[in-house]
Amino acid sequence: MKQKLISCLLVLTFACFLAMTSNSSYGIEIEKPANADIYTPLPKSQPRINGPLVYGCRPGHPFLYRIPCQGKRPITFLVEGLPSGLKFDPASGIITGTVPNKGEYDVLILARNSKGTDTRKLKIVAGDQLALTPPMGYNHWYAHYDRITDKMMREAADVLISSGMADVGYQYVNIDDCWMNAPSNNDSLRVGPLRDEQGNILPNHHFPDMKGLTDYIHSKGLKAGIYTSPGTLTCGGFAGAYQYEEQDARQFAAWGFDFLKYDWCSYGKIVGIDKSLETYQKPYRQMGTILKSLDRDIVFNLCQYGMGDVWKWGSDVGGQCWRTSGDLGFELDRIFDVAIKNSEYRQYSKPGSWNDPDYIQIGWIGNASKQGIPELTPMPAAMQYAYMSLWSLMAAPLIYSGDMSKLDKFTINVLCNPEVIEVNQDPLGESGLVIKIDNDRFLMIKNLEDGSKAVGLFNRGKNEAEVSVDWTALQLSGKQLVRDLWHQKELGVFDQKFNALVPAQGVVLIKLTK
Ligand code: GLA
Repeated sequence: MKQKLISCLLVLTFACFLAMTSNSSYGIEIEKPANADIYTPLPKSQPRINGPLVYGCRPGHPFLYRIPCQGKRPITFLVEGLPSGLKFDPASGIITGTVPNKGEYDVLILARNSKGTDTRKLKIVAGDQLALTPPMGYNHWYAHYDRITDKMMREAADVLISSGMADVGYQYVNIDDCWMNAPSNNDSLRVGPLRDEQGNILPNHHFPDMKGLTDYIHSKGLKAGIYTSPGTLTCGGFAGAYQYEEQDARQFAAWGFDFLKYDWCSYGKIVGIDKSLETYQKPYRQMGTILKSLDRDIVFNLCQYGMGDVWKWGSDVGGQCWRTSGDLGFELDRIFDVAIKNSEYRQYSKPGSWNDPDYIQIGWIGNASKQGIPELTPMPAAMQYAYMSLWSLMAAPLIYSGDMSKLDKFTINVLCNPEVIEVNQDPLGESGLVIKIDNDRFLMIKNLEDGSKAVGLFNRGKNEAEVSVDWTALQLSGKQLVRDLWHQKELGVFDQKFNALVPAQGVVLIKLTK
């Protein structure tokens, strides 16, 4: 009995030691998020239609849009004002078809269930531009690295629906690196010929049916993304597109992909020491031109870590979003610095043109430096809210990159607050302006299309701190209605300024309306 007690105590001490040491990189002691840390109210039973207010597509191409809507199923949808060529399914709320002509179409969506009704406007803009609001979805990289399979991607699509993520607007299900063959890899099922005799790129054994995979994703009203590199090999050492660019792009379109991440990687070996702007642009201009010539809408994501100030020309070469820095990796205590740096390029943020500071890594993620098996992030709850708030205020693509099979209640609450996401998806497309207060405290201010403003009051410090926002900093005057977006509640009418106690490494995210 005594021995048992001693071993129990030893286990407990060891567990405490682990809990304390594993959290040290954040500088404060971290506890697993508790129920009290859940800010986002649960979705109500009556319908709430979410998603962008404006949606871009190209005429003559396949159209697919699943109306994001929370509420108790079954929900019946009605859509008025669709252009000819589009039809909707009342039971699933999926709109399909082809918009025949260029134009702007004002659509009214209605959703009804046994508990109530909701309506929402959507402007469909058929023209040249895609991604009129930041792309939202899932990418496998930070969870599964070179362990990714067709089955896991299908599961990700399933969970995007079952978790409610798709009901707040997450839409893309994107495969990252390692779906092709490699000249060598620990996993023999990922090794094989890179191309067939006609030069067609060959997926590895874990991806037996690419068209079947995109059909599966599309059947849920979601979209599919793929990855390659302009170099001979990808960053993970798998087959790249060098000298097969057009053939590969056509193959991606034929397979049914809707999003392409184009990752510089071994292209660096091709250009050698040439660091001219033209060299940086060349492969992206080439792929951008090819993608535009295809009969599918494929969102083009430039991944070259910001070289040559990509934010200045990414849009000119046909891109819709571009990474502004290296991999965020597992160094998640850098999110504040990365965000502040990213916001320096805010003038280039606009509809169809987005600065991308990398993915949302919360929940279960694998340590990037070891391409690790996913574990629960040690990031404090407050910082996770700050992370999601920063990405929303910056109009950054909202691409979740954690283990979808392990999504927990807390993580869903951070990812799925429709009022926070609305800030991200605002049609104006503005990226927030940073106003530094001191070393720890800063504001991020984003103008919204309806004339209101979203403001993040951030505290990077290790203790709770008061953060104040003065109307003059916001170029506002008079009384403003202040709403707490995370808790989805009105805080009251304030004159001149607003003060809040902000948790250590956290945020208070508000919206101000006249
Ligand atoms: C680079 C990219 C990452 C990921 C990996 C894949 O590091 O920046 O986002 O795509 O390659 O190998």
